[in-house]
Amino acid sequence: MVPQTHPDNDAEDRQGLQIISRGANRLCARDPGDPSHCLKFELPSSERTRVGARQRMRRWLAVRFPRFGENETELRAYRKLRARLGPDTDVYLAACHDLVDTPHGRALRCDCILLDDGTPAPSLYHYLFTESRYSAEVLCAAVDVFEAWLIRHQIPLFDLNAGNFVVLPHGDQARLVCIDTKSILSGKEILPFSRWSPSLMRRKIERRAQRLRQRIRAALGEAQ
Ligand SMILES: Nc1ncnc2c1ncn2[C@@H]1O[C@H](COP(=O)(O)OP(=O)(O)O)[C@@H](O)[C@H]1O
Ligand SMILES: [Mg+2]
Repeated sequence: MVPQTHPDNDAEDRQGLQIISRGANRLCARDPGDPSHCLKFELPSSERTRVGARQRMRRWLAVRFPRFGENETELRAYRKLRARLGPDTDVYLAACHDLVDTPHGRALRCDCILLDDGTPAPSLYHYLFTESRYSAEVLCAAVDVFEAWLIRHQIPLFDLNAGNFVVLPHGDQARLVCIDTKSILSGKEILPFSRWSPSLMRRKIERRAQRLRQRIRAALGEAQ
């Protein structure tokens, strides 16, 4: 993982918005009208991180056809899963509500995952590189729980990177909430075998979860 591609807790006050953080593709800000929600804005190409040819093609399409953009993709992915699994998803995923036009541009409106004090829950990335609050053991156990849920329901969510999760305290443990579900629909494979075959899907989820646990242990300096 390359820390500088994912500056967490961006303090910049963009056009009066209270920014929570930015990912490779989008900026996440608090909803000025409702503290329980956040707004995700797709970044212009000049502000995005560099990616490979396939993702460049996807971005090129998104500029011309909003359907291919991250926000529409994530809303479709979330709705599809919510329709299949019902309210169980709310424990694991941040709910996505709708696309809204704001003075700052079009945004995806989602539940903002909050700590008890009302501030947005920091990302797993934050707890690996900025603030050490949880041990690798606790965070890896939270990955285990999330992985088991994906496998139990055969959910093809493969983009298990630390920026796509926020962390909530859970007793003396931690709980992960995924705040970026677009990978359910926007895979990188040309032939998505792992979405068609349950056993391939399971193995791919296990590989990605294992890689995330390795990154957690590497970042927090514990034996792999
Ligand atoms: N629903 C949410 N609640 C709290 N924080 C969020 C939420 N959605 C996004 N974030 C913050 O914004 C960051 C980037 O969001 P993400 O959706 O992964 O953007 P990208 O599409 O660029 O990958 C996350 O790492 C997290 O810190
Ligand atoms: Mg993301």
